Amino acid sequence: MSEERLFSWSNRWLKTSVIATAAVFVFGVAVGFVWLPSVQRDAQFQGLWNAICSAAGVPQHWLANEAPVAPHVRLSKVEVTPQLLAGATRLSIGRGATLSLRCTMCHGERGMSGANSPNLAGQYAIMVYKQLQDFQSGARANAVMSPMAANLSDQDMRDLAAYYASLPRPRLAQGLDAAGAPGIVLHGAPLRNIPACATCHGGIDNKAGSPWLDGLPAAYTQAQLQAFASGERHNDISEQMRNIARNMTPDEIAAAASYYANLTR
Ligand code: HEC
Ligand code: HEC
Repeated sequence: MSEERLFSWSNRWLKTSVIATAAVFVFGVAVGFVWLPSVQRDAQFQGLWNAICSAAGVPQHWLANEAPVAPHVRLSKVEVTPQLLAGATRLSIGRGATLSLRCTMCHGERGMSGANSPNLAGQYAIMVYKQLQDFQSGARANAVMSPMAANLSDQDMRDLAAYYASLPRPRLAQGLDAAGAPGIVLHGAPLRNIPACATCHGGIDNKAGSPWLDGLPAAYTQAQLQAFASGERHNDISEQMRNIARNMTPDEIAAAASYYANLTR
């Protein structure tokens, strides 16, 4: 068989295999780019052109000259890094102690609240500082705290944070053990995208910017989780807590809140 005859259109085998390959290609394109994307019934995939664009991974129209989407709520402006507020001086702690005299009415003399306000004793300095910044900027709103934070300077907030972080934490009544902790705290709910609370809030690990929850009044923890879930509280960076709280059931919220409240005595 000569070369010429092999690659000639009159060769039946060549013709059949070229046509078959073309048919498989066209079928593949139709299934992959048109049929499969168009049976995905999300709002995003409507119409043939939309389906083709989304299968190819390109936007339907480019956002070249459009303004970036502005958030409809005020978000936190604080940039949290583990080094933020590292190495507080004694002077700073002392100034913080003096400033804290206006806070004792609600947060307790030594940062332990008798009412249902959050405890601040031993709270991470980054957390105290960030919340005060957020109350001042309006990223977090509260009828009582927003006016309290309005007149604090950046240095005041650093000093208050250093002072509260230096106070002893409430004593633990029990360690974090598998027997006592609810599943949501220890394992989260992976199918609903909820990581274990203990991976950020202590127990397994503490991530910068995550508060110390042990000993917080249950009513407060529960109210904050509900506020994150409804979006009423929206100062968490990258929606870390909103995404979690939205997917929690009311029972899980109650279980986590009472677990953390009962950890201390
Ligand atoms: C009249 C009572 C009251 C006073 C006085 C007060 N606070 Fe608060 N504080 C609260 C309440 C209530 C909350 C919880 C707000 C909420 O539910 O969002 C809070 C929340 C906070 C938080 C956030 C804690 C957390 O775990 O998220 C910080 C930090 C804080 N206060 C610091 C201060 C400082 C510093 C002062 C003094 C300059 C002060 N507060 C004075 C009632 C008070
Ligand atoms: C990915 C890390 C991460 C995980 C996992 C996580 N949190 Fe948080 N949580 C945060 C951060 C960060 C904040 C602080 C938000 C802010 O900046 O105000 C926070 C704040 C909170 C607060 C508010 C506390 C206060 O004093 O204001 C509560 C309550 C809370 N988390 C409960 C939970 C519970 C319950 C779980 C498990 C179901 C959980 N979190 C899992 C990162 C996490």
